[in-house]
Amino acid sequence: MVYFLIIHQQNYKSDMKDIESKMKRLIDEINFHNYQYHGMDDPKISDYQFDKLVIELLDLEKENPQLIQVDSPTQRIGSRPIDGFTQIDHLTPMLSLDNVFTMEELMSFEMRAKDKLSLEDKIEFIAEPKLDGVAVNLVYESGILSYATTRGDGTTGEDVTHNVLTIKSIPMKLKSSSPPKTIEIRGEIIISKNDFEIMNRENAGKELKVFANPRNAAAGSIRQLDPNISKDRPLRFYAHGYGLLTNEDKFSSHYDVMNYLNDSGVVISPYSEVVTGAEECGRYYEKIHTLRDSLDFEIDGVVYKVNNISHQKELGFVSKAPRWAIAHKYSSIEVESKIIDVDFQVGRTGTITPVAKLKPINVGGVVVSNATLHNMDEINRKDVRKGDYVFVRRAGDVIPEIVSVNIKKRSNITKRIIFPDQCPSCGSEIVRKHGESAAKCTGGSICPEQTKELLKHFVSRKAFDIEGLGEKILDQLMESNMISNTSDLFSLNIDDLISLDRMGKKSSQNLISSIEASKNISFDRFIYAQGIHDVGLATSKSLSECFSSLEKLINAEMDDLLIIHDIGPVAANNIISFFNDSKKIKNIDRLIDLGVVIVYESEIDSHILNDKTFVITGTIPNMTRTDVKDLIEKNGGRVTSSISKKTSYLVAGDNPGSKIKKAADIGVNIINEEQLSELIKNG
Ligand code: IVH
Repeated sequence: MVYFLIIHQQNYKSDMKDIESKMKRLIDEINFHNYQYHGMDDPKISDYQFDKLVIELLDLEKENPQLIQVDSPTQRIGSRPIDGFTQIDHLTPMLSLDNVFTMEELMSFEMRAKDKLSLEDKIEFIAEPKLDGVAVNLVYESGILSYATTRGDGTTGEDVTHNVLTIKSIPMKLKSSSPPKTIEIRGEIIISKNDFEIMNRENAGKELKVFANPRNAAAGSIRQLDPNISKDRPLRFYAHGYGLLTNEDKFSSHYDVMNYLNDSGVVISPYSEVVTGAEECGRYYEKIHTLRDSLDFEIDGVVYKVNNISHQKELGFVSKAPRWAIAHKYSSIEVESKIIDVDFQVGRTGTITPVAKLKPINVGGVVVSNATLHNMDEINRKDVRKGDYVFVRRAGDVIPEIVSVNIKKRSNITKRIIFPDQCPSCGSEIVRKHGESAAKCTGGSICPEQTKELLKHFVSRKAFDIEGLGEKILDQLMESNMISNTSDLFSLNIDDLISLDRMGKKSSQNLISSIEASKNISFDRFIYAQGIHDVGLATSKSLSECFSSLEKLINAEMDDLLIIHDIGPVAANNIISFFNDSKKIKNIDRLIDLGVVIVYESEIDSHILNDKTFVITGTIPNMTRTDVKDLIEKNGGRVTSSISKKTSYLVAGDNPGSKIKKAADIGVNIINEEQLSELIKNG
């Protein structure tokens, strides 16, 4: 009997081994075909044959669930939507690129690199098209895809693993016998031009979303909570670099690493070439330019990267861009359209901007129906008239503008553009100061349009950062006379918000909590939020460092301001007249009365928790909750009341309550008092 059992067990084991190897073979085969089909556009078998392989694997997995492999293609899609995006710190920063537009600029880029490396010879670069998509970071641990994030702010991105897993050309496991312990593979998620056309046509037929261009469609798809949506979008991934690579010393060039990735089953950036010196880079730039229209993906330039890894290390980076790579951009696209009318828009500080209403036109994949005419001087200089045919330019994210008039097509029924002398929003007089090109509405705070723009600025991310307070809600709050200045925001109560369209109890409660949480604000953000003309982020920072209190800033005189680096007479004048306006001072006083607390530079011990948001719960053993809050704020962090996808840490003490479950559910880091101190000590 015992003998029989042993034989039986041995047979069972070898059967299992056979089944497992069969499953592994099927997985390799399916993954290979996924790579060929989705990554290379070069299918080797029919869809029917492919489906048969998948069904065979599924059957084996159903009978032997204990043998399901981590890289099985059947494990890609967890069909359950996620609750929110978790923030994840990149292991190394995701940098961006500086641009050059001309050969001279390119040559000086190479010259600077040669100087820094003390090299006589030309530099060897990897040249590639600059794909117009969404940057992502794939982290593989010992060859297994661990998670994927968006670029975010370069330091922290959002976890989009659930969507990335729907991209079949991305391997769940690297085909490598000795994979690195950790590698961050960086690349671009795109939708090809052809796939984009098909998708939009199909979507229009099904009354689903029709996208403006492939980049928007890719970005929108990757930021879906439900992977079933991204699954149906034709997303592709191309690797163009890497961040952390634990065995980097095994490679001597960027090219070697990219080759290794290619061999490991990762689709790498197409049309990549090794070129030497700026001239060869220039030839590559021209070559790709002539191919541009025939390529099946959108590009906005080419990228050159120093190939030698130790040279890259030596060159390092400045601010957010490496000194070892540069984007050589193609100039922007210009398209002809007709001006139907001209509107005059009112900005936050009253500046009136003429905006041409155009016959809608597709400019490089984006439908444009408005383009700025900047100001009256520009209108006169270009001699633009209503009814004219004009050339419209769009470059990157910049607002489209009118470049010139196609004078040959001018008819005799065009009309001159008359600048209004009264504000279209409030009817106040519009004046243009001598020597200035901008014309301004003099209505100030009585002008609804100026007020709305100011409120938008006040609640924006770099100012009070009030989450969930978008333009639509601001519009309603203004229309129903609940707010007419920034301090009114802090007197809103839940019933006010519930009375608005589409605001339920929960969203109203959340908005009240975000308003409450925004009340503790650093001095520089507070200054920036006031929206003083010409006082941007950098100037606000300088002011917060030079004045130890708001009172001192309010009482500053011209000389006090002019000695500050980067404040000129114009900004100084604007600051003085802003604080001389009694209405502004009254509003500031009311902000403080309603609970806004300014945290001054002198009260800050460190900036180590900058950009980090904390929630505190439970009884903290050795400190009061207020002490914990102070400690976080003194080190640059922010404390908010409720857990959301933006929360960086939950500080939990004894008897923590329901917050801990929510934090765990959405993947927020949960730390205790000691870990908080550790974080403040070591970052
Ligand atoms: S290399 C240190 N290569 O362009 C950054 N970037 O404008 C090295 N991009 O964030 C980037 N195609 O997402 C590189 N072939 C390419 C690229 C590329 C597109 C994106 C990338 C980067 C952005 C910067």
